[in-house]
Amino acid sequence: DVVAHVALTHATQTNEAGRCAVLLPALAGIRHQPLALIEVGAAAGLCLYPDRYSYRYLLPDGTDCVLHPDDGPSGVILDCLMDPKDDLLDRVPLVTWRAGVDLNPLDVTDSDDMLWLETLIWPEHDHRRARLRAASQIIAQDLAHLRTGDLLEQLPSLLNEVPSGTTPVVFHSAVLTYLSSRDRAAFIELIRSHPEVTWISNEGESVLPEVSAQ
Ligand SMILES: C[S@@+](CC[C@H](N)C(=O)[O-])C[C@H]1O[C@@H](n2cnc3c(N)ncnc32)[C@H](O)[C@@H]1O
Repeated sequence: DVVAHVALTHATQTNEAGRCAVLLPALAGIRHQPLALIEVGAAAGLCLYPDRYSYRYLLPDGTDCVLHPDDGPSGVILDCLMDPKDDLLDRVPLVTWRAGVDLNPLDVTDSDDMLWLETLIWPEHDHRRARLRAASQIIAQDLAHLRTGDLLEQLPSLLNEVPSGTTPVVFHSAVLTYLSSRDRAAFIELIRSHPEVTWISNEGESVLPEVSAQ
């Protein structure tokens, strides 16, 4: 018998700037700005820059609502279908501080890390590889601080670093599914022990059923 031993050196880390189109309405709705963004499970941090991309929200009647960063159109345009009952947005949120944590933060200025991120995109999704490269160029000019470690361990000290005068926002997108149910519960408890934090969860409906209902 032949037994193959395969050592896994990498775990899934898809990083999709397009998810900012879904996060944006929640961020824009936060009354007290500027915002200090903390992303848990940030991968390379592409979702930490919702203020640096342009958006085209397509309405069912064929019209659209286009939104650009304050300094003009971005090299990345994110298309998103919008429900007519959602409020149309008139500007991107004001973000003055951003940081993230990941078990394995990726660096968009490192060619091996970029190759890994490109590998994680389905072969036929050329538009996503183009978006990844364009978004990486934007964020490379102002790299956010990304900590290495477990989100439960690192979040408390990251929150201590939030500058005064900013609204702390903790968010995650396609991350909590990787946590055990015990760790998910511990995360909810940790977030709820910080009433000053605005929490945005962008996960599958079954990941945090109690949050999906809110
Ligand atoms: C599918 S990726 C999503 C990346 C990004 N949030 C996005 O939406 O594009 C999930 C990320 O969560 C990270 N992750 C998973 N469990 C984690 C944990 N316990 N602590 C910190 N990061 C974690 C992984 O390393 C990976 O980079």
